Amino acid sequence: MKNTAPSSVSFNRDVALKLSQHDVILTLLSAVSDPERVKKAFPQIIILKTRSPEYSATEPQLAGNGTYWLNGQHVSLLIDLKQVLSILPQSNAFRTLSLYLHDPPLVVLGDATTTPYWLWHKALVGDSQPFELSAGNDPDWRHLPWISILLFALLWVIVVEFVSRYLMYKRQRVLADLRAQFSELTRLNTMGEITAGMVHELNQPLTAILSYNQTALSLMKQERSAEIAPLLDAYVVQTKRISALLTDLRQKMHSDHVPLQPVGLKQVWSRVLMLLENEWQAGKVKIINHIPDDLPPFLAAPQWVEQILHNLLLNAIQAQQSNAPTSAWVEIAAQPTEKGITLTLTDGGPGLSDQALQNVFLPFFTTRQGGLGLGMALTQTLVQGLNGDISVENVAGSGARFTLWFPFNAEEQGR
Ligand SMILES: Nc1ncnc2c1ncn2[C@@H]1O[C@H](COP(=O)(O)OP(=O)(O)OP(=O)(O)O)[C@@H](O)[C@H]1O
Ligand SMILES: [Mg+2]
Repeated sequence: MKNTAPSSVSFNRDVALKLSQHDVILTLLSAVSDPERVKKAFPQIIILKTRSPEYSATEPQLAGNGTYWLNGQHVSLLIDLKQVLSILPQSNAFRTLSLYLHDPPLVVLGDATTTPYWLWHKALVGDSQPFELSAGNDPDWRHLPWISILLFALLWVIVVEFVSRYLMYKRQRVLADLRAQFSELTRLNTMGEITAGMVHELNQPLTAILSYNQTALSLMKQERSAEIAPLLDAYVVQTKRISALLTDLRQKMHSDHVPLQPVGLKQVWSRVLMLLENEWQAGKVKIINHIPDDLPPFLAAPQWVEQILHNLLLNAIQAQQSNAPTSAWVEIAAQPTEKGITLTLTDGGPGLSDQALQNVFLPFFTTRQGGLGLGMALTQTLVQGLNGDISVENVAGSGARFTLWFPFNAEEQGR
């Protein structure tokens, strides 16, 4: 038998067709038909004889060695199944073929010693010869169309490679677009933050300058020019502060590195008190200073420390605007720790709400009318820029307490 792959479906149909021919022969033959002519035309028919009365007309009678009797109304045929299968040219295409009525098989063609790679079982259609056909085969690897298979595989690899490259390229494009959008957003965001930060930091000195100017003008009109000089001095201080803030901003935009200098907390605090003199005096805020005279200086950017204390004091003053008269106060205290300086700023205001305690350092969080919500966000950025810490709590019997820690040397990491 050859090992090409035939269609099992068409083979089943052919065998069934061949078997059904026997039914037709039985109907057409009569007891007087010439048996020799019939056998010649249908070599699978071995004997043709008048049907014995004891034979059933419905069931094939097995007669051994792959033969069976098929009984018609008048005639019986002894049919050789081996012949039936061998007449069909397609039989050669299978490694093994068998026909069953029940186990064991009635006839086996080919090599059935080992189980073939493929094995089909199929019941043949037909009432008079209800056999079951089993066909098995092995693939002939050598005769497979290897070149076509290889070409197809190669084509498939090229297609997969092309599609995956295309998808990768598309993904990279999407990522590049996203990155471009993101950097644009970041740029806008940074610009927005810088602008908002500038507005926040310049607002107070500009307001102070305006007020000094207005007072100086009205003193001039009243010809009290002797009182104008201190106002002009204060004006100069505030203008220099604006200039320092702008220099600092330029430095921040050009590099992350700020020059560090020894900072004396007492001096910075005095300067902040001077800068916010208008505010704390107008609010009748009592300033309590607990900075020890011998507090060691620490290495930091003085402008930054000034901005930090400025923002904290301004908030403390603003928080006590609705306090009972003469009940507003701010206390600053400081002490050295092993590697730095701890500083607390406590006030006599209402303290922070639960929501404010959680969000006070978030940009644009504000509960103050006209507030930008940037003071504490900027303050935290500056403290962290000096490798320090800042936290806030409410103190029973007082108001808010901000606790800060600055390392002796802002450039040294760790505590
Ligand atoms: N000492 C304080 N006492 C009570 N609440 C405070 C105090 N300091 C800050 N807060 C709360 O934290 C919020 C955020 O403060 P932050 O300084 O960041 O913004 P702001 O003062 O509202 O606006 P600005 O941008 O002008 O500073 C304030 O609106 C206020 O609710
Ligand atoms: Mg503020």
